[in-house]
Amino acid sequence: MIQTESTAAKPSLRQWLRHPAWAPLNDPAAWQRLTTAINPLWTLGEVRARVIRNVIETQDTRSLWLKPNRHFRGFRPGQHLMLELEIAGVRHARCFSLSAAPRPDGLLRLTIKAREGGRVSMAAHQLEPGQIVRISQASGEFAAKSSPARLLLISAGSGITPMLAILDGLAAVSAHTDVHLVHGARTPSDWIGADELKLRAAQLPGLKIHFHGSDVLGRWRPQDLSTLVPDWSERDALLCGPDAFMQAVETHYATAGLSERLLSESFGRRAAPLDPSASRHAVTHGKPEQMFTANSGQSLLEAAEAAGLQPRFGCRRGICMSCQCRKHSGTVKNLLTGQLSSPGEELIQLCISTPQSAVELAL
Ligand SMILES: Cc1cc2nc3c(=O)[nH]c(=O)nc-3n(C[C@H](O)[C@H](O)[C@H](O)COP(=O)(O)OP(=O)(O)OC[C@H]3O[C@@H](n4cnc5c(N)ncnc54)[C@H](O)[C@@H]3O)c2cc1C
Ligand code: FES
Repeated sequence: MIQTESTAAKPSLRQWLRHPAWAPLNDPAAWQRLTTAINPLWTLGEVRARVIRNVIETQDTRSLWLKPNRHFRGFRPGQHLMLELEIAGVRHARCFSLSAAPRPDGLLRLTIKAREGGRVSMAAHQLEPGQIVRISQASGEFAAKSSPARLLLISAGSGITPMLAILDGLAAVSAHTDVHLVHGARTPSDWIGADELKLRAAQLPGLKIHFHGSDVLGRWRPQDLSTLVPDWSERDALLCGPDAFMQAVETHYATAGLSERLLSESFGRRAAPLDPSASRHAVTHGKPEQMFTANSGQSLLEAAEAAGLQPRFGCRRGICMSCQCRKHSGTVKNLLTGQLSSPGEELIQLCISTPQSAVELAL
């Protein structure tokens, strides 16, 4: 039978849309490339932000004011997010606390101390207004109760950043909260947010600030709390600062049987000293000669770094998944939960996994 024009099989709309010519339209990555070429903040779900201001706070600390795109879902004072920067063609992500409470103009503030040799902190200081950065949604449980009657904030160095946001948030909701801030820095000029806090004290009649300059007064001792804040043991307390400082305060609370009163936020704990009696395990990655050893108790990330490798990482606390890697074989223990993995193939996070047997990784 001869097919006339009207009886010839016409492609359905669906077949027509599947034609290779339209392939880019069915590819979300292609759409993302197209939209971000028009405006780098127009993404299909990815959270990005434009740098609005880069403000000098102290000689080694700057605040970045960011305008996030519409995919950012907001945050509570005390929470943090991941900032991802491309450095020499490689993406590196690090956690930063939001240092101002949510604002009507939607701007976010990150206050970043430059660490010596620090990849992301140093690069963040170089960001200029107009540049676009990737950020994550905010997360974290570090926060004051919704309407605390009495609060104690204990911080040192850059550990002030979540406290600035918490005090900013309190000023917006309950001006009369009875809150003591005990903060330490080397000198008054190293005190991040000093001017802002002085203004805050004028806004919040219940705020008392105790500054400790360690260059003149020596290291602050948690035992001094009872002089500064006589009812310290009856207050909910939030703690953030360098490792040794936090450990001293945590020990003080534990000795007083008050650990449950204290909520801590760590910016990254130093690796615990290696236990010489711990068993050592071989970790292979790639060829058989590519091998290092790791103690049980030591994270695979620390062991790999000690062996001169540079695996990707972000938070070093099991939050961000930057260090996720495939384990081909071997058993690892989760340092946070104590849970043992299966001996077979699976994805693990190097920063919170410690070997319990020989392990083979795809680093
Ligand atoms: C929940 C959370 C919130 C954080 N909030 C803030 C914040 O508000 N402001 C801020 O400045 N930082 C904050 N940090 C720390 C931040 O994530 C990075 O660790 C820090 O900026 C260093 O990253 P880097 O890439 O510059 O250094 P890297 O290249 O990772 O390291 C370079 C050197 O710096 C040292 N180093 C890395 N991190 C620290 C640290 N925390 N303290 C001392 N030495 C370190 C390393 O040992 C190394 O020698 C936070 C971390 C976490 C986990
Ligand atoms: S570095 Fe963030 S999960 Fe390991």
